[in-house]
Amino acid sequence: MASARAELAAIDIGTTKVTVAVGSMGDDGKPRLIGIGTHPCKGMRKGVLVNMEAAQKSLKAAVLEAEAMSETEIDSAFVSVAGAHIRSFNSRGSIAVKGRDGEVSQEDMERVLEAARAVSLPQDREILHVLPQEYVVDGQPGIDQPLGMTARRLMASVHLVTGAATTVQNVITCINRTGIEVAEIVLGQLASAESVLTDDERQLGCLLIDIGGGTTDVAVFEKKAIWHTSVLPAGGDNFTNDIAVGLRTPIPDAERIKLRYGCAAADLVDGEESLEVPSVGGRAGRVMSRRVLCEILEPRAEEIFTLVADDVKRSGFDQALRAGAILTGGGSLLDGLSSIAEKALDLPVRRGVPEHVEGLMNVSGNPASATVAGLLAYGARCGRNRRGPRMAANVIHDVSRRVRDWLGVRF
Ligand SMILES: Nc1ncnc2c1ncn2[C@@H]1O[C@H](COP(=O)(O)OP(=O)(O)OP(=O)(O)O)[C@@H](O)[C@H]1O
Ligand SMILES: [Mg+2]
Repeated sequence: MASARAELAAIDIGTTKVTVAVGSMGDDGKPRLIGIGTHPCKGMRKGVLVNMEAAQKSLKAAVLEAEAMSETEIDSAFVSVAGAHIRSFNSRGSIAVKGRDGEVSQEDMERVLEAARAVSLPQDREILHVLPQEYVVDGQPGIDQPLGMTARRLMASVHLVTGAATTVQNVITCINRTGIEVAEIVLGQLASAESVLTDDERQLGCLLIDIGGGTTDVAVFEKKAIWHTSVLPAGGDNFTNDIAVGLRTPIPDAERIKLRYGCAAADLVDGEESLEVPSVGGRAGRVMSRRVLCEILEPRAEEIFTLVADDVKRSGFDQALRAGAILTGGGSLLDGLSSIAEKALDLPVRRGVPEHVEGLMNVSGNPASATVAGLLAYGARCGRNRRGPRMAANVIHDVSRRVRDWLGVRF
């Protein structure tokens, strides 16, 4: 029976699957994946928990698997969150420096982040992340780390990520009921970015697109900071539904056909190729051209990337993407997607797989594991499994300090 406490653990409750990962900390400070459990998830819709009992059952199964593989017991984990309830925006705060000899002190750094997060929010929303972008010291912009500098006024620009308080609380309750505390809630695409982006991409400017089952999560990085994030309500499952409707076949068969024959760019497939399509209601199956299948998938792919392009354009950061777009998430495995993305976004596109977590090889090459692998990397950076339940919405100091520490090491 497992007995040792897991050093580092991560939980990604996605629309299609729950994945639980256990890591150990290497001497170099990098996490090493030592156990993983995955179970289909029936309790989520478009990133939002809709059936507590079903989600809990899937979570429990994935936890047991990860614990058995790692021979540890998980009592605390970093947890991802996504869904259409996420809203993000940029904010600024400014303070008079009070540190000794006019130098910016740790306390000034905390005060300026508090000032930047002091926005009025509806009562049912809570701030999940306060991500520093840059500081302005006495009118001088573009300062990465002002701590210790002489200054009179300090201003911080931050990216604020907010979520619906009850939706977030339901995820926490679900995890607590399996006997696990939530060390921290992390926006899904921030976690994925941890495992798939290179430092150069973050510095030059890039667009991360995590295509899951129910949502497509977007993030814009530049100068090592985050400038825009959003969650769009379409993903890999839309392709499956389109196949089910277009070819009049049951959903499980549509999913199988997508995985085996799917291609989002119709001109990449041979018109002669064919496949067998089972019918609904016990009627005899039919043989169809693979090209017909791809003609169903292509408009959906175009629609998803047009949604992404419009979203980034609206944010005003569409000119910052010098390193192009990086596709990850299980949905990015659909053949032909990159070529459709390149056309719709007018950017170079590459597929991103988790790379910054060592250990079990089957995870490192799989884009569907980007979020859970990134959560481990995030957890390792923030200080392993923090004890005690996850922050209350109003524990400002703690959150801002941790986020600053997290980003601080990159500056
Ligand atoms: N080889 C493949 N080809 C095409 N699609 C695939 C392939 N493998 C997985 N998918 C699709 O990827 C989607 C699941 O991706 P992922 O596991 O990243 O989602 P999730 O994290 O559960 O969901 P979400 O992030 O939306 O909450 C499903 O729609 C699945 O059909
Ligand atoms: Mg996901």
